[in-house]
Order: sequence, then structure tokens, then C-alpha cells
Amino acid sequence: MARKKIALVGAGQIGGTMALVLAQKQLGDVVLIDIPMTEGMPKGKALDIMEGRSVMGTSCNLSGSTNYDDIAGADVVIVTAGVPRKPGMSRDDLLGINCGVIKDVGLKIKELAPNAFVIVITNPLDAMVYNMQKVTGFDSSKVIGMAGVLDSSRLACFVAMELGVSAEDVKAIVMGGHGDTMVSLYDCVSVGGIPLPQLMSKEKFDELAARTANAGGEIVSLLVRGSAFYSPATSAIKMAEAYLLDKKSVLTCAVKLNDEYQGKGKGLYCGVPCVIGANGVEKIFEVKMNDAEMAAFEKSIEACKKNAEWVDANT
Ligand code: APR
Repeated sequence: MARKKIALVGAGQIGGTMALVLAQKQLGDVVLIDIPMTEGMPKGKALDIMEGRSVMGTSCNLSGSTNYDDIAGADVVIVTAGVPRKPGMSRDDLLGINCGVIKDVGLKIKELAPNAFVIVITNPLDAMVYNMQKVTGFDSSKVIGMAGVLDSSRLACFVAMELGVSAEDVKAIVMGGHGDTMVSLYDCVSVGGIPLPQLMSKEKFDELAARTANAGGEIVSLLVRGSAFYSPATSAIKMAEAYLLDKKSVLTCAVKLNDEYQGKGKGLYCGVPCVIGANGVEKIFEVKMNDAEMAAFEKSIEACKKNAEWVDANT
């Protein structure tokens, strides 16, 4: 069986980290594509990882390119192309610039990789993945946004730190848009199978949920020159792996909603738990929420709607 081809459009901080993780996990051959200030950047990153393969024990091939045509025939395309946040900026401040980038990239994917599973990471996430699906015209099961996996992992990390337990034993669900309105679900956190309400007060959980909603901003203010990249990269690879290995993984991702959740987000991209396998998004789960959580989720859907309307009006 031929190796899978994974195209990473955007070879910056997240793109470079994804290339390394993909090589380590031997998920396929990788092409890094960028339109950088310095012509050699994607080639340099690819070669750098290639030169470490003997030590890593991997045989995947990596290449770098400044030509979008090298997307051709990709099985998976992961898009980070665009501009990241600087301190003081919200994700929404990136809307205008990154919308044009997604359009250029999306048209190329449509032409050259029509069977690809497309994962969008570029912010503002919910609007960019909405735009990507619109531009490519691909079935919505094949176009998905990476946000909920990361936000849920951040919440799980904070819960694990608070309880002094292993982060790998904590599972969480953070739904809604990838912004200030995201919704952390108290009853859906599991600590090695034990429901969180048995181990932590709601007041403490609310503090951790607030930190989760601001977690991206916390990293931006620490890094100053960019936004988070290690955990976004590993989150996206978790999604790509679920697709490539037909894992049927249950992951919270930005997906296009239809009649789920009483049709409240119909036609919009928003973060909800879903099953990812060889057919892309194979199922969307409807989580039971209490009234306060449902109200917060509806508010988050409104935020996604506002940005999607901006995309519709300006593209
Ligand atoms: N085509 C290809 N690459 C592009 C284009 C384009 N039209 N426009 C910008 N790029 C490249 C930049 O040259 C840069 O190398 O996208 C890369 C983005 O990388 P970084 O600036 O390092 O940003 P990163 O931290 O990887 O984040 C990328 O993901 O989380 C989001 O908000 C974040 O939107 C940002 C994206």
C-alpha cells in the first residue's frame, strides 16, 4: 500500500511541529508548503527533520515547497497558513487577513486534492473552517476545524494539575466556538472514570474553565512573538491520525451542524463531540446540558454565527 501523503499548508510554528510529530508517528510522507519571507524555510524545516530520521527510527519522507501545486493528491491537508495573534489581539482581529488566505488555499485544495480530509487550524477558527468548506464545496464530513481537542486538553491539564493526577487520565469536553464563549462541561470531565463532581467543587471548576477560555491568550502574553503551537500541533495530529487509521475516535471538533442541538447552529461550524474515522466526521454526538450550559452554548453559537455572516458578506 502506498504511503499516505499529508500536506501542511503553513510551515510556521504549528506546521513545523506537526511535521516532526507526523514523522515520529510514521503516519505518512509530509510536504510542508509556505509562502515565507525567506524562500528556503519550508525546505529547511523538511530537511532538518529528514536528517533526524535515523535517530528517530522513522522512514517517512519530508519535503518543503513554496508552490501550492505540491498539495496534489494529498490524503490529508492541514492548514495553518495565515497570521497568528499578537498580545492584545483577539482571534477575531485576524478575520480579514486570514479569510483571503483560506480562499487561496481552499481553491488549490479543491483543484489538486479533491479527496483530501481537510483540517483547518487558522484563526478565527470557526469562521475559517466555515470559509474553507464554502470555498472547496467539499462534503462537510471532510472539512473540520481543530479547536475543541485543544481546548478540552487544556481543561484536562488544569484539572490534572489541581488534583495532582496524570493528565492522560483526565478527559474533558469543551464545546462551542474557539473563543471567549467556549463552554466547559463540569459533568463531562472524567478522572480515570470518576465523574469530576465527585472530586472537585463547581466553584473550583469554574476557575479552571475561565482559565481554559483564556488559555490561548495566556500563552500569547508569555510568548509575546506568537501564539501557542506545541499543543495545537499535537491536537491536530490526533485528528489526522483518527482519520488515517480509521480509529473512530471521539473528539470535540469544529464541525458543520445540521439538525443536532435542536437545529440551533444549523449551517454553522461549531465545536461539538464527534466520531472521526476513515469517512471523516462519521457521527455527531448530542451532549445533554443543563439550562445554564445550554444558554452558554447558544451564546457561543451566536458568536460563530456573527463571524460566519462576516465571511458570507465579504467573500
Ligand atoms: N500561503 C501559505 N502560507 C502562508 C500564507 C499563504 N497565503 N500566508 C501566511 N503563510 C504562512 C506564514 O509564512 C507562516 O510561516 O503561514 C505560517 C503561519 O505560521 P506562524 O506565523 O508561525 O503561525 P502559527 O503559530 O503556526 O499559527 C498559524 O494557527 O492557531 C492559529 O492563530 C494561529 O492563525 C494562526 C495559525
